[in-house]
Amino acid sequence: MRRLHIVLGVLAAMVAQSWGSPSMKAEVIAPGVWRLRLGAPERLTPLKYRSAPPMVDASGTVPVVSDLPIDLDHVLFARSPRGCTVEFPMAESEKFYGLGLSTKTFELSGRKAWSVASDRPEETTNESHAPEPFFVSSRGYGVYLDTARYAAVIFGRAPVQKSHGKTVVADIPAAQGVDVYVFAGPTALLAVQRYNLFSGGGPVPPLWGLGVAYRGALSSSAAEILALADTFRREDIPCDIFGVEPGWQTQTYSSSFVWNRTKFPDPEGFIAKMHAKNFRMSFWEQPFTHPTSPIYEQLRPHAGSDLVWGGLVPDFATKEGREIFVRQQNDSLFSKGVDSMKIDEVDNQPFKPDPWSFPDYSRFPSGLDGEQMHSLFGTLAQQALLEPFRQKNQRTWGLVRESGALAASLPYTVYSDSYDHLSFIRGMAKIGFGGHLWTPEVRDATSIEDLVRRLQTVIFSPYAVVNCWYMKMPPWKQIRADKSNAGVAMPEADRTTAITRDLFRLRMSLVPYLYSAFNVYRQSGLPVVRALVLDYPRDAAVTSIDDQFMFGPSMMVAPMVEGQAKRSVYFPAGEWFDFFTGESIHGGRRVDIAKSLDQMPLYVKADCLLPLAEPVGHIDKSTVFKLKIRVYGKKPANFALYEDDGETFDFERGAQDRLTLSWSETGGHMLRAGHLGLKRYDIVGWDVVGG
Ligand code: GAL
Repeated sequence: MRRLHIVLGVLAAMVAQSWGSPSMKAEVIAPGVWRLRLGAPERLTPLKYRSAPPMVDASGTVPVVSDLPIDLDHVLFARSPRGCTVEFPMAESEKFYGLGLSTKTFELSGRKAWSVASDRPEETTNESHAPEPFFVSSRGYGVYLDTARYAAVIFGRAPVQKSHGKTVVADIPAAQGVDVYVFAGPTALLAVQRYNLFSGGGPVPPLWGLGVAYRGALSSSAAEILALADTFRREDIPCDIFGVEPGWQTQTYSSSFVWNRTKFPDPEGFIAKMHAKNFRMSFWEQPFTHPTSPIYEQLRPHAGSDLVWGGLVPDFATKEGREIFVRQQNDSLFSKGVDSMKIDEVDNQPFKPDPWSFPDYSRFPSGLDGEQMHSLFGTLAQQALLEPFRQKNQRTWGLVRESGALAASLPYTVYSDSYDHLSFIRGMAKIGFGGHLWTPEVRDATSIEDLVRRLQTVIFSPYAVVNCWYMKMPPWKQIRADKSNAGVAMPEADRTTAITRDLFRLRMSLVPYLYSAFNVYRQSGLPVVRALVLDYPRDAAVTSIDDQFMFGPSMMVAPMVEGQAKRSVYFPAGEWFDFFTGESIHGGRRVDIAKSLDQMPLYVKADCLLPLAEPVGHIDKSTVFKLKIRVYGKKPANFALYEDDGETFDFERGAQDRLTLSWSETGGHMLRAGHLGLKRYDIVGWDVVGG
């Protein structure tokens, strides 16, 4: 560990009021993680509200590193009445990734990028649904700035003197200091893994969470939802989660959290009936609390200074604010059997003169101001609404429109109102640069081709959701919202339903594979979905590829969008196999791929085992996955399947078996570690694809 020397530069002479002590140390926080305490950091930062204690790598795959990966001699800290800056050295042609889930930006060198919560992730200035002041470098390290301020990072500030190189400058308003955490690699992927472990490791979904989710129209009544649910089962459309949008409440925008008894005369009975049809229930809510809500008066002293949509903004950073809010959700929802939540509108409209959210100058009883609360609000809301599930020892799998720093462990996926398919795909490629999950949700479509291509993307999301909140019919019956609401099916409905069924069945066949990838995420911080640049850091051809991504350990997805007769797919070096045809492709090059609507560019790496389940229509406690193991290549690596009850948190206390699949000349084998013996997986065969 080296000493931190503060370099006094020209900038310092101009703006600095005071400087960090020259004797300041980079403190080792965890293996391969250092903290630089610069100046006087603020008291209320994301770390104070971290969602889970740090995890230690339980996979044995994150190497021990003892050298700090950045040169402290060239780290510069300065503060002024406006805030503080940290300047890092930057190597020639160094590349940067991360800093949230903007769907417009990818590689960040040459940009000024903000870490700001917004409901518009399609701005080149980088604001997003997931403000996360963490970035990784192509040189194999990561940096996390522990601040809830609207930090901006300039990736490549021109040198003050010609003899110096470009720098990376983090510009943090208001704060008089910041804790900077540095994560060692030696690759960017390992730096991400260390950051995710530091955040508490990835979440393990309930098994049913990996099925397909459908959200019904906002105007639907209980009777209409029950009828639609029946058509799913009748038509053999796999579906595990049914989402109820704002219409369940008497008042929304802001919210009463009181059932609309005209549409839902018997909430408990309705949920029980949906459960009996094997749907898990997800309910929409938005935390802003309307004056007609039973908790309004109680919540008032524990809410922000400004109203939103005429409602209170609960201060989830206070115990009272959380408890009052959660008690109401228990009464209205959780005690009635609700399985998960969609937490809406916890982001912001930062650059609108009249945003529907609270202003940055709001004050909260916890001491947070509006700016800080915007960086934390979604994370704190998720934490509050996870608590009842933890108490019931029941896993949940929700949606949220904002999630912040150090939130990897939270079982929520970020979604957006925006709807550009390519941007949605870029969102998928980006989630591996930090600790978030993303869904490119499907709604209406401009053509059947558009619908099918979108479905082909969303089935590779951690949360495969069709969000028909403004459509009465599923889009495979009618792609246009107006006609859907008029009850008119399209002539191609049967054919489109058949294509959709096949795609959802493909998703269901991947559930054990995906479940395994999530367990690896939890144990080692390895993101389930990753850009190619993370898996192939030495391949210069992948640094900007934002329209393909790795899905789990060995699959590569290259979605197509409407209007593409073919697309160019990059195959990193090595051998690849077409998932559908088994055709082998030699990598290290680009190939033009044409795929008709019933297929998509989906590939598997050589030398791996891919467990594929016979698709089921839904997942419950008694589900047994019948597995065919595909064997790709001559020397397939082992594959670990995780077997547990799929529903509770008992796996955290060791109630989980690990089944290792292996392949040799004598055939396939499965070795069990653990004693639960649940028999969730039944291996029905091994298919050699290439070898
Ligand atoms: C939006 C949300 C949509 C849907 C809608 C319902 O704010 O992003 O997904 O839930 O509200 O009114």
